Amino acid sequence: MQPNTFDLFADHEPEQRPRAEQIGEQSWLLHGFALPLIEQILPALDTILAAAPLRHMVTPGGFSMSVGTSSCGALGWITDRYGYRYSGVDPLSHLPWPPMPEVFAALAHSAAAQAGFADFNADSCLINRYVPGAKMSLHQDKDEKAYIAPIVSLSLGLPAMFLFGGFNRSDKSQRIALLHGDMVVWGGVDRLRFHGVLPIKQGRHPRLGEQRINLTFRVAG
Ligand code: SIN
Ligand code: FE2
Repeated sequence: MQPNTFDLFADHEPEQRPRAEQIGEQSWLLHGFALPLIEQILPALDTILAAAPLRHMVTPGGFSMSVGTSSCGALGWITDRYGYRYSGVDPLSHLPWPPMPEVFAALAHSAAAQAGFADFNADSCLINRYVPGAKMSLHQDKDEKAYIAPIVSLSLGLPAMFLFGGFNRSDKSQRIALLHGDMVVWGGVDRLRFHGVLPIKQGRHPRLGEQRINLTFRVAG
């Protein structure tokens, strides 16, 4: 399915268009990019989470992740004691993951295009929910079959401090504040950069309460 390509900000004056901040050679932070679609995104997310509830997955090393995880789209990222991988079925229900809502596909396609990656058609959307204190250790996204397509991330709810590193775990990371509606796209030469999230600070977001939700769109299969 080819999502509609559209300009979310067609009606905006140039100075009101969201700010795109380059954070790597082929990496961009798109401030507030998803805000025009937020009232379509949140109910779509609720529908997904009713069918495929968030759960704390276990790493191959036996640790329970601090984030609650679910997915939508043809493939969902999972981890258990046998490893990290993508699966076409939700291991909790043994059913296919909920379909990718059209608004998600269109948003991710549009953000990728804005960052210079044409024809991005995600087949996977990983949903991570962070409560205050939850974090994501530095890692590379490398469970996908190929690395040609970028990673497209959407942040909702409480702010996060995103770590955007280099190609070795020990490389110094940039610290990038991610707010409700912000999107980050990294691909091409930056596709395998290490990244992570510092523990989320206590707080209450007016729309989402005491949580941060991150959606990561990928071409996995
Ligand atoms: C991830 O790398 O899977 C999540 C990144 C984020 O929560 O911003
Ligand atoms: Fe990641």
